[in-house]
Amino acid sequence: MIRATHHFPHDFLWGTATSSHQVEGNNTNNDWWVWEQETDRIAHGHQSGEACGWWNGRWEEDFDRAMEGGQNAHRLSIEWSRVEPNPAIWDDSAIDYYRQMIKGALDRGLMPMVCLHHFTIPQWISDRGGFSDPQIVHYFERYTRKVVTALNDLVGLWLTINEPNVYYVAGYLEGVWPPGKKDLRLIPQVIKHLVMAHAAAYHAIHEIQPGSLVGLAHHFRGFYPANPRSPLDRWVTNFKAQAFNEVFPRAVTDGLIRFLTLRNRVPQAAGTQDFFGLNYYTSETSAFNLKQLTDRWDHSDFPEGTDLSPSGFVANMPEGMWEALKWAHAYQLPIYVTENGIEDAEDQIRPRYLAQHLREVWRAVNFNWRVRGYFHWSLVDNFEWERGWTQRFGLWGLDTITQERTKRPSAEMYEEICKSNGLSSEVVAMYAPEVLNVMFPPRGSPELVATYA
Ligand code: FCB
Repeated sequence: MIRATHHFPHDFLWGTATSSHQVEGNNTNNDWWVWEQETDRIAHGHQSGEACGWWNGRWEEDFDRAMEGGQNAHRLSIEWSRVEPNPAIWDDSAIDYYRQMIKGALDRGLMPMVCLHHFTIPQWISDRGGFSDPQIVHYFERYTRKVVTALNDLVGLWLTINEPNVYYVAGYLEGVWPPGKKDLRLIPQVIKHLVMAHAAAYHAIHEIQPGSLVGLAHHFRGFYPANPRSPLDRWVTNFKAQAFNEVFPRAVTDGLIRFLTLRNRVPQAAGTQDFFGLNYYTSETSAFNLKQLTDRWDHSDFPEGTDLSPSGFVANMPEGMWEALKWAHAYQLPIYVTENGIEDAEDQIRPRYLAQHLREVWRAVNFNWRVRGYFHWSLVDNFEWERGWTQRFGLWGLDTITQERTKRPSAEMYEEICKSNGLSSEVVAMYAPEVLNVMFPPRGSPELVATYA
């Protein structure tokens, strides 16, 4: 066996990512809670309920796990509906609780990266039209100022909005998330308000805390034509990549929203990222589908024989991680991988997924691309939106009845990686032996022939 280690830079951040609604429990005052009470919205009628019990103090034991696991950073989010339960009425006890939580992270050597909007909005804003109402820009800026004023002595790394592209697609195109719209006519204004809200928050944060670093978490999905020789497949692939991947990063770079044939100038959004937050999970193939012309004109799939997660939600396609990093690198900013992971209750695939994806991150580091950290999704199983508790993304498993946590082999593997600041052939041999020869090819083996373009 070849013995080798992929080393990472000495100040690299190793963490996990979570979000308020998915872990806190009893977030009764936001649009998701209301949505979960309606029938047929969530798989098997699941609800977030107690979630991981973080609002009851269980963040402490989970931060202990992160610390003991050698992590030095944690990404979390603030629940807007707790901080501002009614318009301009602030709950200082909620802010105090976040202060405790963030101090708790710092005490354990976990550098906090704090996200201000991770999919949920207070119910009172939802009643006023959410992101389709222009007032949201003002509301979001006001809330941002409140939070950043209260926490800037503890936090220097901010994310304004998580995955604005997923947000508009799930909430306004597919209608599977609140507000449950399938309305193409609303989408341009929702996109515009997301961009404007981000820009307003970016400027507000810098006004309060000039030295802070502010970004967004962009979700990149790799799109490949099902048949590369088919011009229609190539067209639909390109179309999806534009509409899904490109809109937000380009808008916050040059202040121009390009959505389908529409162009919208938002000059205040130009240059509003200090780093590039990158979420990558999976890639897919797209085929042009004439039969679906009236609905969607494409058929999405995974390449034949792909290594799939149990519910078929995530394909283990590390080449997409490379594409994602290459794409992010083009923005010439420091990069944080703000999410990456796979649902896998039995932990059958996760070890190799982790090894293979980190290998791509390491490759980027070796090109001197400014990749500053990696946050695995997630620390412990948590509430997976419309998929409820059917998908398990945690390094630690969760029993939602007893709140008991179970350490998965991947947690041990990640611990070895974080503690040694590297990914070694020994660790791959121990936890994901099936990919050892692909990742660390023995001398003279055909696998030495480069598998990546
Ligand atoms: C991302 C979300 C995160 C989690 C993972 C699995 O799109 O940001 O909240 O649901 O997917």
